Amino acid sequence: MKAKITIARELKAGNIDRRIFGSFIEHLGRAVYGGIYEPGHPLADEDGFRKDVIELINQLNVPVVRYPGGNFVSGYRWEDGIGPVESRPKRLDLAWGTTEPNLVGTNEFMKWCKKAGTSPMMAVNLGTRGPEDARRLVEYCNHPGGSALSDLRVSHGYKEPWGVKLWCLGNEMDGPWQMGAKTALEYGRTALEASKLMKWTDNSIETVLCGSSSRQMNTFGDWEATTLDIAYDSIDYVSLHQYYGNHSKDTASFLAKSLEFDDFIYSVICICDYIKAKKRSKKTINLSFDEWNVWYHSNGTPFEKWSTAPAQLEDIYNFEDALLVACMLITLLRHADRVKIACLAQLVNVIAPIFTENGGGSFRQTIFYPFEQMSNHAKGYAIRPIIESDKYDCKEFTDVPYLESVVSYDEENGEMAVFCVNRSLDEEMQLDISLLDFEGYKPIAFDSMDGYGVNEENTFNCEKVCMHSNPLPDSDGKYVTAKLKPLSFNVIRFKK
Ligand code: AHR
Repeated sequence: MKAKITIARELKAGNIDRRIFGSFIEHLGRAVYGGIYEPGHPLADEDGFRKDVIELINQLNVPVVRYPGGNFVSGYRWEDGIGPVESRPKRLDLAWGTTEPNLVGTNEFMKWCKKAGTSPMMAVNLGTRGPEDARRLVEYCNHPGGSALSDLRVSHGYKEPWGVKLWCLGNEMDGPWQMGAKTALEYGRTALEASKLMKWTDNSIETVLCGSSSRQMNTFGDWEATTLDIAYDSIDYVSLHQYYGNHSKDTASFLAKSLEFDDFIYSVICICDYIKAKKRSKKTINLSFDEWNVWYHSNGTPFEKWSTAPAQLEDIYNFEDALLVACMLITLLRHADRVKIACLAQLVNVIAPIFTENGGGSFRQTIFYPFEQMSNHAKGYAIRPIIESDKYDCKEFTDVPYLESVVSYDEENGEMAVFCVNRSLDEEMQLDISLLDFEGYKPIAFDSMDGYGVNEENTFNCEKVCMHSNPLPDSDGKYVTAKLKPLSFNVIRFKK
């Protein structure tokens, strides 16, 4: 099979905001306890943070991490997680049916962010609490000193304010599973007031309004329009959440789900711009896709009710999951003009690219690799190449292009990178790349993930599903021809 992409600077989609490679740590399962934090582990540092996990996170090059939830945040009292650890209460977490020991709280997370070379994206509780508690947390974190809450932080040993820039106004507030779920009108008003008070406390922050919990929600569309109409002037981003699973064991349909993902993004952009037009506003609202991933393998796994940090949502990912994650990342980048933040949910153990054993080792799941490749090589600006590709029909979709692709160009180091997935289950693809105004650029590396069965997984002892290098594709300076294996994720990097 043949396909072609044409690359030109004029096809620029938008500057790539590094925060598109964000992730998420929730007080859920073994994400915090046994994931990032495990005092007594042979590789724990003096604060109890696992250094092996930090090392893997560094490989992923994650600029921002959302915290502390997720569903958890909608019942969270942030005051429970500050001050002397020995006096912190144990609380029932109604979101996940567990007991939260509060050994890690706001300050520990901020410390961990510094060590992991990332920055925090804090979520506030607009479920069981409201604007005043939210703005008090901003004061505790960001005010330099001289007020009761900033002095409280200083008395806890943190003289310097944390300067948290990004704040989520609650989580999935349209979901009936959410503590304190709300109608769009109730949430729009609450979010507006919270955002106002938080910004009056620190006017350097940015806030994220909750969009629908997924495109499948009955509330989708109306929810965004109503809440944006109310809160538009005070907020900066609207959130999107989406998870996919291959429940029917239909790889062709599963890999096409990024088309729906693309449609979801496009629809939310349209809704933002409809409200902008209606308000005659000069302000543009951008998108924060702050939960996305594959999630279904672990559904229904039993755990002991009210236990602390049980194994929950511990999906073990296979090769086809990595291919869909690659397609979703490509799609996010194709919308780089409007998607400014995205968080792979989550980062460690809980539906995550990194998996650990309590007291033991860690390994990179299959989905680790496309994320690592794109986070490290998709820099500068994104280009939407012109794609000419055969298409297929499957049970859930029609007209699915076999080829999924995006290009990045980094003016700083002069590197151009082509990211592509061949969705064909059984046919190799001859990809012709027309370089147009990138004439003279030569391939310097061709790495791919291919040749595995769709169900193959990695384990503690064997990370067999990973990237490997290939011989450089043929090139005459104007055209490049690469062979993409069936079911493959490919990264071809160029330099002049
Ligand atoms: O990431 C797991 C959960 O998925 C989050 O807590 C929630 O926001 C979403 O439903």
